[in-house]
Amino acid sequence: MDTDPLVARLTAAVGSTHVLTDPQVIAAYTTDFTGRFGGPARLVVRPADTSEVAEIVRACGEEGAAIVPQGGNTGLVGGGVPHGDEVVLSLRRLTSIGPVDTAAMQVTAGAGVSLADLQRRVRAEGLDFGVDLAARDSATIGGMVATNAGGERVLRYGTTRANVAGVEAVLADGGTIDRLAGLPKDNVGYDLPGLLVGSEGTLGIITRARLRLVPLRAGRATALLALDSMDAAVSAVTALRALPSLELAEFFFANGLDLVCRTSGLPAPFARSHPVYLLVECAASHDPTDELFEVIEKLTAIEEAAVAVDRADRQRMSAYREGHTEAINTAGVPLKLDIAVPLAALPDFVRDLQALVAGVATSYLFGHLAEGNLHVNLLGAGDRAEELTEAVLRRVAAVQGSISAEHGVGRAKARWLGLSRSPAEIAAMRAVKHALDPHGLLNPGVILPSDP
Ligand code: FAD
Ligand code: MLT
Ligand code: ZN
Repeated sequence: MDTDPLVARLTAAVGSTHVLTDPQVIAAYTTDFTGRFGGPARLVVRPADTSEVAEIVRACGEEGAAIVPQGGNTGLVGGGVPHGDEVVLSLRRLTSIGPVDTAAMQVTAGAGVSLADLQRRVRAEGLDFGVDLAARDSATIGGMVATNAGGERVLRYGTTRANVAGVEAVLADGGTIDRLAGLPKDNVGYDLPGLLVGSEGTLGIITRARLRLVPLRAGRATALLALDSMDAAVSAVTALRALPSLELAEFFFANGLDLVCRTSGLPAPFARSHPVYLLVECAASHDPTDELFEVIEKLTAIEEAAVAVDRADRQRMSAYREGHTEAINTAGVPLKLDIAVPLAALPDFVRDLQALVAGVATSYLFGHLAEGNLHVNLLGAGDRAEELTEAVLRRVAAVQGSISAEHGVGRAKARWLGLSRSPAEIAAMRAVKHALDPHGLLNPGVILPSDP
């Protein structure tokens, strides 16, 4: 019989099936996707709806129990897993999807809806959700809103923030804000939904989101370009951006492609290896292949190019890029640094980074080119991980970049917050955190380092 009084309280709120305490059962909730972050949980609780979330938050507040909200647990900065006996509040059961409002081009989705399920639902109505990322089968709408997820289509549709028209959320006092009307114009007071987007579970628990949708563009053209340098890749994407139909421009390097092919069994795309690869995709109501072809033909510094001839080709080309995260995970526990630098600075930054880590760690680099978003994955850093993190993030700050482009701060980068935010900004963030979560119950240690 469990003696923890909170177990009894929460069992009364959600039923015994959804209060988990067995260490074996909760193991999947207590370690992050990379295996790098995690710790013991007091328990895992799985509410069915907003009112149960509110009841749990009130009970935890009365017990002084910290809460880690969790969606699909695909986060990459350690923000969605316990650190020291917190209650893990899983939103995965909140899987309602409201009617697709084709007039407003909006839909309301529960926090636990996976991106893939949302995509299936809205595409059936001839619409699409602008944000797409490789974790689509597991990443949840609540997690994507909480981290302001970016993904592969930011160059056309922006990050999650640009695609959210409102949220419903439970605050630390158990109160619920409901801003789901999705009115295009609604200028009344502070933008609380906007504040919760990107707050990583530290200001409130998102239970539903009102999402903006875009037309489903059936005409797609995909190409894989092999280039001799990052400089060539940057000039290629600069030329490609003249295409209104451009939707995706993802880069990766020879060693990452080789790792993906070795772990997945995919055939190499070209007869020989090339230094840099750029996956590009256009989408429109018409077939954009000719317009894509026209731009590619004029590009210099291309060593080889392949244009997808059918869906299978497109999926294979996409797998070269999207397979990176899983492939790297099979090679070890990566030190991941998701950063952004001004696009013009990216080629030099990459060269400098490769020189910095040579001989210290194996680097796998890839990312979202148009946003200057570089995913740095280092294997074998060992006890030099902190030193390398500091060195890389200081170089990012030196070129006016961002120490976190899309994954958020989590626990992973909290101590380096000052490299991308001023003391005044951090003080303002602390004031907001104190106002909304005065007892520090929501995801303590995430975004804001615990000791000011
Ligand atoms: P979780 O990992 O469960 O949680 C993430 C954070 O959000 C935590 O701080 C958690 O406390 C908080 N949280 C979760 N749900 C809620 C809620 N309902 N209310 C309040 N807080 C909540 N990210 C990108 O931005 N772009 C990419 O291209 C991308 N590609 C990826 C590819 C792979 C293969 C993987 C494994 C991850 C990728 N990610 C990417 C990272 C991850 O998918 C995103 O951060 C995603 O938004 C996390 O969603 P989740 O539901 O898994 O959240
Ligand atoms: C991606 O773009 O695939 C993700 O951000 C995941 C990663 O950085 O590994
Ligand atoms: Zn990414």
